Amino acid sequence: MTFERLSSSTEALKRPTRSERVGRCYIARPRYFPVCFAAMMLRPRFHFTPPANWLNDPNGLVYFDGEWHLFYQHNPFGIDWGHMSWGHAVSRDFVHWEHLPVALPEQPGYMIFSGSAAVDWANTGGFGDGVRPPLVAAYTAHSPHEQTQHIAFSLDRGRTWTPYAGNPVIAIGSREFRDPKLFWHAPSGRWVMACALADRRQVRFYGSPNLRDWQHLSDFGPAGATAGLWECPDLFPLPVEGDPTQQRWVLKVDDQRCGAQYFVGDFNGERFACDDPPSVRRVDFGKDFYAAQSWNDAPGGRLDTGSPTRRVWLAWMSHWDYAARTPTAPWRGMMSAPRELALRRDDDGLCLVQRPVRELRVLRRAHWRIEDVACGAANDRLRAMDAHGTALEIAATFLACAGSAEFGLKVRVGAAEETVIGYNAAEGQLFVDRSRSGNVSFSPRFAERHAAPCPLRDGALALHVLVDACSVEVFADDGRVVISDLIFPEPESDGIEVFGDGATRVQSLDVWALA
Ligand code: FRU
Repeated sequence: MTFERLSSSTEALKRPTRSERVGRCYIARPRYFPVCFAAMMLRPRFHFTPPANWLNDPNGLVYFDGEWHLFYQHNPFGIDWGHMSWGHAVSRDFVHWEHLPVALPEQPGYMIFSGSAAVDWANTGGFGDGVRPPLVAAYTAHSPHEQTQHIAFSLDRGRTWTPYAGNPVIAIGSREFRDPKLFWHAPSGRWVMACALADRRQVRFYGSPNLRDWQHLSDFGPAGATAGLWECPDLFPLPVEGDPTQQRWVLKVDDQRCGAQYFVGDFNGERFACDDPPSVRRVDFGKDFYAAQSWNDAPGGRLDTGSPTRRVWLAWMSHWDYAARTPTAPWRGMMSAPRELALRRDDDGLCLVQRPVRELRVLRRAHWRIEDVACGAANDRLRAMDAHGTALEIAATFLACAGSAEFGLKVRVGAAEETVIGYNAAEGQLFVDRSRSGNVSFSPRFAERHAAPCPLRDGALALHVLVDACSVEVFADDGRVVISDLIFPEPESDGIEVFGDGATRVQSLDVWALA
């Protein structure tokens, strides 16, 4: 394992240790701290990571029998991408995750790439035993010559899987054909699978009555952002907030250069039609929210029940620009916080909004609150209360005045580092600046500032922020503008500050330390 390689490769192991301050306590730190202990201290508190080794995309997200299943692209043998298999974990509350054995291991001749899972309630595929509905998975078999779509099923709550003997179910002789998103489309009474034709920048839809025989339905794209390969499509209906009788479909697809984008429109069981001429609509303006996938069969979210939908997704928090070099060990790769989705009618049409799932609130511990103070005074109050933490939830509302220039929050503040979450009033932009956030040296493409157009509402900016050991997720404009970024600060950089000129006021600031 790489962790052993890292630690044993250094002579420092034999040298004496010294004590250093970590967080609010002193612990003995070995001399090899910079290499491996620091890497371990970056383990998130409430974001999902594999026990060890490499992780990328979420796969096979399905809710069944009280469990939120999270499968993921995983290398069971190392901290670098390779031997791609589906790792597996389950949660009953989005907070505690139970790690389970690898569900779909690499096979001779091909790796198991990204895909999805669903419950076959009516046993349409005939894989069931007449007692329990089978879980079915659709995934890409990746060989050097071709990418094809395979099906597997499980009769024991996703613990063990049997590949369908007739695999592949779809093969078109392409090397850039992957990431099937499978779901049951009740109105047309059949399965739909959305796949990426990566180099053509298209999403291809297939339909099937039985999961075995698939018919090509239609293609969408190229549209919107097309600079990079297209990967990991997702397609689902969402109600319009405040008007639950109205429902539109969201098609999300990732562009390897520009990140996740989405289109709003209608899906009639055969074809996706955009409501407006397709434009680039970004899901997240940070760099680290990729390959998002939403859960199938979420409680209250089953299309066939007609009950109000709950649509939750999460994404891989990294970017192919530097994913192979992020300085963590003995694991590499983490998931975002799970987010609940909705559509909101806004000035520029229907917009996707994302909010952290309410289940995360149980993590709240110490609480600090300040109200109606100028930015400078806010810092005195924060210091007096000793507000700090490496895992935090923050809700802040700033009131800008005519003279306001730049204002916002700084988190993970240490002697020589800080992550800035700010608003530039002249540009009308929210930003996260991680150029001084800690270790930024592992890639020339990491130390950046990421900005998003974001209006003030009645002169106010309301932020909802999740901070963890190596990440920040910033939700603004009630979830319409999101910036998700990795950061790699020192574990003792746990300060929180407010910044801004005299013209800007902190209307309210709530900080919770998270368990
Ligand atoms: C997206 C992706 C997918 C592919 C998987 C391989 O991050 O490139 O297209 O299935 O990762 O690990």
